[in-house]
Amino acid sequence: MKAIVQDQYGSPDVLRLAEVEKPVPEDDEVLIKVHAVSINGSDREGMRGKPLYARLAGLRRPGNKILGSDIAGRVEAVGKNAKQFQPGNEVFGEMTGYRGGFAEYACTSEKLLARKPAGMTFEEASAIPQAAVIAYQGIGDRGQVQPGQSVLINGAGGSAGTFAVQLAKLRGAEVTGVDNTDKMDFLRSLGADHAIDYTREDFTRNGKQYDFILDVIAHRSVFALKRALKPNGTYFVVGGSTGTLLQVLLLGPWIRRFEGKNLRVLAVERNQEDLAAIIELWEAGKIVPVIDRRYRLSEAAEALRYVDEGHARGKVVIVVE
Ligand SMILES: NC(=O)c1ccc[n+]([C@@H]2O[C@H](COP(=O)([O-])OP(=O)(O)OC[C@H]3O[C@@H](n4cnc5c(N)ncnc54)[C@H](OP(=O)(O)O)[C@@H]3O)[C@@H](O)[C@H]2O)c1
Repeated sequence: MKAIVQDQYGSPDVLRLAEVEKPVPEDDEVLIKVHAVSINGSDREGMRGKPLYARLAGLRRPGNKILGSDIAGRVEAVGKNAKQFQPGNEVFGEMTGYRGGFAEYACTSEKLLARKPAGMTFEEASAIPQAAVIAYQGIGDRGQVQPGQSVLINGAGGSAGTFAVQLAKLRGAEVTGVDNTDKMDFLRSLGADHAIDYTREDFTRNGKQYDFILDVIAHRSVFALKRALKPNGTYFVVGGSTGTLLQVLLLGPWIRRFEGKNLRVLAVERNQEDLAAIIELWEAGKIVPVIDRRYRLSEAAEALRYVDEGHARGKVVIVVE
């Protein structure tokens, strides 16, 4: 089959189209004919090998040579213990840990998949899994954002951020989105009440404080971050510099104990229940995946370059023909 392969970490130039073995499903896996795969920040990180956690599968060279975690497609074959799906079913899901989505076929655990609703395109479905689940757990399940709260989303114009803005508005919050200069109007079009350009303003130094912060691209010290939190406010980090994540892990409990501000790393759990809840919100017209551009599989390097250069508003999807 055709796949986009990377033999080393680096710029989008390390990505090449290659012929590789078609994967074979393990007993609890399904083999999917991929119709669409979306790009997440984690693909950008996996391509570059930065931050350090992006090298968990291979310190010097990529352990997983094929990027792409969020796929939508048709089940082609099922392992002997996989009971939930049958060949022909249209499914979507996140397969981080498996990767391999930038390809014509991919295998993953059936527990990571959900049925694609008939009215949802493969492209829309591929734009949902990782990004929407981060937002759903961050803003909803774990964050418990309440009506009237002031919420800041750092990295609001990217994959998870665009869902987080929509979900925070849905919960009645006053939302501030932070992203680059070109995305200010885009953030407002998503429903953000305020937009901050990170190239011109540091949200931890403008004197404002928030009830809740969801940070998808953290790089500041915990001391700066807690300054932006109201007393008893909550800060969740999902991705960013390893230094910030370690600081939040190590110092978060002390800050919580002595100052009441709650700084945590949000470890996102992938499960079918959250995908089902997100489908319900989509069916009710309450959230939409925002797709900026579509590329062919052979154009994956170009797609990653577009994302890497900071142009993408929401999601970029690779359509696999
Ligand atoms: N904790 C967990 O369990 C878990 C699970 C899955 C994924 N993750 C992580 O979650 C993160 C998800 O990111 P994503 O997919 O939403 O990324 P994304 O699509 O790349 O979006 C990131 C957004 O942040 C913007 N940005 C860049 N630098 C910024 C800055 N200094 N301040 C504010 N915004 C900035 C980017 O704009 P530019 O275009 O200007 O760069 C982009 O719009 C990844 O780090 C991933 O590894 C965590």
